Amino acid sequence: MSGEELQYPDDFVQRLETIWGIGFLSPGGPEEVGEIVKGVDLAGQHVLDIGCGTGGPAIVLTRDLGAAHVTAIDIEAPLLTRAEQNAQEAHVAGKTTFQLVEPGPLPFPDGTFDIVFSKDALIHIKDKAALYGDVLRVLRPGGIFVASDWLGGENTESSPEFARFRDLGHLKFAMATGEETAAVMRQAGFTGVATRNRNAWYAKLSQFEYEQISGPLRDQLIETVGEEIYTHWVAVRRALADAATVGALRPTHLRGVKPGITT
Ligand SMILES: C[S@@+](CC[C@H](N)C(=O)[O-])C[C@H]1O[C@@H](n2cnc3c(N)ncnc32)[C@H](O)[C@@H]1O
Repeated sequence: MSGEELQYPDDFVQRLETIWGIGFLSPGGPEEVGEIVKGVDLAGQHVLDIGCGTGGPAIVLTRDLGAAHVTAIDIEAPLLTRAEQNAQEAHVAGKTTFQLVEPGPLPFPDGTFDIVFSKDALIHIKDKAALYGDVLRVLRPGGIFVASDWLGGENTESSPEFARFRDLGHLKFAMATGEETAAVMRQAGFTGVATRNRNAWYAKLSQFEYEQISGPLRDQLIETVGEEIYTHWVAVRRALADAATVGALRPTHLRGVKPGITT
């Protein structure tokens, strides 16, 4: 994607990594990645990470959780350059492949992966039926889809807090609710579909993040991105914390299994 189309330009990545840690464009760090895959044995497994960003989750899956290999895809080339550097520094370059893709069908043959993982990226993909059908296709029989995504609730469309967050921010969303997501996953052919609403966790954390951004991290952020971007971002983060507090923004864990032989 060309420079002006980037949703995650350098200054935005710097802001996000200042609060969430190098390699993370989503909240919770290694601990939350562990929560997403809790109970799934990754040892020796080949994993696809959709929307890998700057590589933090892929590093955790290989370095800490035993995945044999992670193929990590994203649509923004500069993020993949950062991800490769981060993987080198974490000594998992040999277990990770970072690949630029076009939005749309996953460029992999049927049954390529044991596990398909994603953290907080599917919100950007509009055609959920096509997405989950394709995720099912690239999994082997018995393979597992395990992810987190930013979902909405029944109040999201009518929430002034969410409207304020959406209107102040620059990201393009295609949000679904937990019920809608579970239904579209079942429709695609997944079994054992389960969702876990992480709103209570993130409502609290987003308030803490706001306090950090407007307090101890203020000077560092202004030095990195300048006062104008910083001031606007504080307003975005206030709106985000408010949207999470009223339950209109819900990080949600997702699980599903491709029917077939489990190994
Ligand atoms: C909020 S970031 C999350 C990044 C990473 N998963 C993490 O947790 O740090 C969302 C990511 O999804 C990527 N993305 C957006 N649309 C995509 C698509 N159609 N296919 C793959 N990645 C996509 C963005 O470029 C961005 O890196």
